[in-house]
Parts: sequence; C-alpha cells; structure tokens
Amino acid sequence: MHNESWKTKAQQHLAPTYAQYPIAITRGQGCYVWDANGKRYLDFATGIATVSLGHCHPKIVNALIEQAKTLWHVSNLYYIPWEIELAEKLNQLTFSSAVFFCNSGAEANEAAVKFARLWGKKHKNGAYKVITTTNSFHGRTLSMIAATGQEKVKRGFEPLPSDFVHIPFGDAKSAEEVIDEKTVAIMVEPIQGEGGVIVPPDNYLKELRNLCDKHNLLLILDEVQTGVGRCGALYAYQLYEVEPDIFTSAKALGNGFPIGACLVNEKVKSAITPSSHASTFGGNPLATRVALEVIKVIMEENLLENVSKMGKYLKKELSRIPKIKEVRGKGLLIGAEVEDNQGVVKKALEKGLLLVPAANNVVRLLPPLNITQKECDKALEILEDVLR
Ligand SMILES: Cc1ncc(COP(=O)(O)O)c(C=O)c1O
Repeated sequence: MHNESWKTKAQQHLAPTYAQYPIAITRGQGCYVWDANGKRYLDFATGIATVSLGHCHPKIVNALIEQAKTLWHVSNLYYIPWEIELAEKLNQLTFSSAVFFCNSGAEANEAAVKFARLWGKKHKNGAYKVITTTNSFHGRTLSMIAATGQEKVKRGFEPLPSDFVHIPFGDAKSAEEVIDEKTVAIMVEPIQGEGGVIVPPDNYLKELRNLCDKHNLLLILDEVQTGVGRCGALYAYQLYEVEPDIFTSAKALGNGFPIGACLVNEKVKSAITPSSHASTFGGNPLATRVALEVIKVIMEENLLENVSKMGKYLKKELSRIPKIKEVRGKGLLIGAEVEDNQGVVKKALEKGLLLVPAANNVVRLLPPLNITQKECDKALEILEDVLR
C-alpha cells in the first residue's frame, strides 16, 4: 500500500488529533527511514528526540528479542529484576535515590507532582501548589496541560485542575513573588523544547535551587526531552552543577519502546508510601530491559562526547546559513529560527530530510546521538537548499 492509501485509511479510522505529513513510514535503519513508496529520509526528527540511538540498533534489537523470549510482563506485586537493575543504574549515574517507572513523559510528570504533594503533606503543612513557567510543555493529561504554559494546549478543556502557577521562563526572581505557604515545588524544563528550544541564562537552575532551599520547596526538572544524553550529559541538569529533588525522563529512555521514569532524592523517597501510586505497565520487563541496554550503549560507546562534538558542529554550520535568524540549543537539541517553520519542514521532507517544528518560528534538528559529520553535512545541504 502506498502513502496516499495510508492517508485515506488514516483519515477514515484514526481520531483526528494530529495534523499529519502525507507519508507513511514503514521501515527504519540507523539514521534513515523509508516511506511506503520506498523513498528514503534522513531522520533528524527521531520520533521527537526519542529514537536517539537510531532505528533498529542491533544491541537494542537483541535486548528486546532476548527479553521477549524470557518474560514480557508481570505485575509490580512481585519484584521485577530488570526494573530493579535499571533503577540501580539510574541511581548510580544521577543524584537520585529511588525511581518510579511508568509509560510516558506526561505520566512521569504526574508522578512527580503527586510525590511532591505527598512530601508537602508530610513535611510542609499540606502544601500542594506547583510553580511552572510560561511557554513550557509538560504533556497532555489534564493536570499536565494545566501545568503547561501554552494556551493552545489548554484551550477547550477547561475547567482545568487548578494550583499550577505560571511565571516567566528564565527569570528566577519572578518565582519569589508568587511563592506562598501553600507552594510545594517549582517545576521547569532545563531547556524548553516544544516551546522553541529556549535556553535559559546559565545560572537559572542554580538560582531556582537557591530559591527552593530558601523557601523549603522541591525543585522538579522535566527532562523528558532534554534527558538520556540529548544535551551532551546523561541528564541536562548535570551540565549546570545543580541537583533537583525530582526529575522525570521518558522519550529516549526506551529508544522508542514506551517507558517513563520519575526519579527522586532521599528526602522525597521518604514521603512515598505503598499504594500511593501505581501503573500496570510501569517497570515492564520488555521496557526496562531495553532501557538498561540504551543506557549501556550511551556510556560504552562514548556517545555524550559525540553529542557535544556534533552539536557544536551543527550549530556553527547552521549559523552560517543567511536565512536562519538564530541558532539555539545544547548538544543535539538544536533549534533554528526561520520565517516559515512549517513550510521549511514540509519542503525538507520533500527533499528527504525529517525535521520537527517548534513554537511558530523554529525548526528542530534532533538527530540520533551517534550521528556522523557526513550525515550532518547531508542534512545541512538539504536545509540550505530549502531555505534558498
Ligand atoms: C518536556 C516534555 N515533557 C513532557 C512531554 C510529554 O511526554 P509524552 O508525550 O511522552 O507524554 C514532552 C513531550 O514532548 C516534553 O517535551
């Protein structure tokens, strides 16, 4: 079946929540995918910062097949070895003391807010309000669209859960004006992804940390897009010498296999009790076995070094292209500001390059972490051609 037929069938049968590009992707290998008509694309979209090791990475495929032959699913009523090992690995590589697993970024953020409220009940007279930022994106559940700082995401779903307070992103001082005795936490993305690859001032997270310490609040970092190596450290907070109390991870953690995680420090762990939160699939053997392999590949193949190197290269080369007004980002989370971002993404697709729009004037370049300079040059050549 060809792209056109898939489009017709999709329009007949899918809930129309997505404005889709007119191709059906049927196969992937490394940094390339192929559509139903057999056309090849260089994938700088990676499922929106998700297939970070490239498509069908042999070690990840092997891990999944091995696990599929061993055990697919059991409940958290029992100990799940791969879930425990993944938690141990993440705790070794980050500040965290305990991990709750779920299936997506939004769910991980829900867990973060619930755990913050548990901590607030126990240690802060029942404080429950969470400060978030304008232009942020935290997911599509009701609570997370309330937390999100973009009107277009909330429209049509009111009334929303209250008790999320928004302040301007990048301005730590503005938080101080809205903190009251009911505030329990501040939640931000280290770099806003969906909001247009907005990088805050270097000392922003440090200032938020100081503010949280001063007012006895928890600092929650949403690392769903920035995490798992995307910005040149395993988690972006590690670039800023700041430790949050809670952070969330999803997307690239499973390289495309659904998994989410909420990681907490000892202080927050001590407020969590049995039965306070749960997820049927959370910690699923297939997902956690795959994620263990993902982390192993990133560390063993020194991919963080490649992310920094290729990130610098791409940014430098992008900033030479006259029609690009600004280049932003860290590592391989890169945003290029252009006039007609939707038009640029569509034309790039026609020429065999997948990109992702963000905000209303940014195209995102999110190649796999193991991308080579040759492949970067190919993407740059297509993008330059499109902008010309
Ligand atoms: C920063 C951030 N948080 C949360 C989410 C939501 O993740 P999911 O779509 O897996 O629920 C996203 C997705 O783009 C994101 O970029």
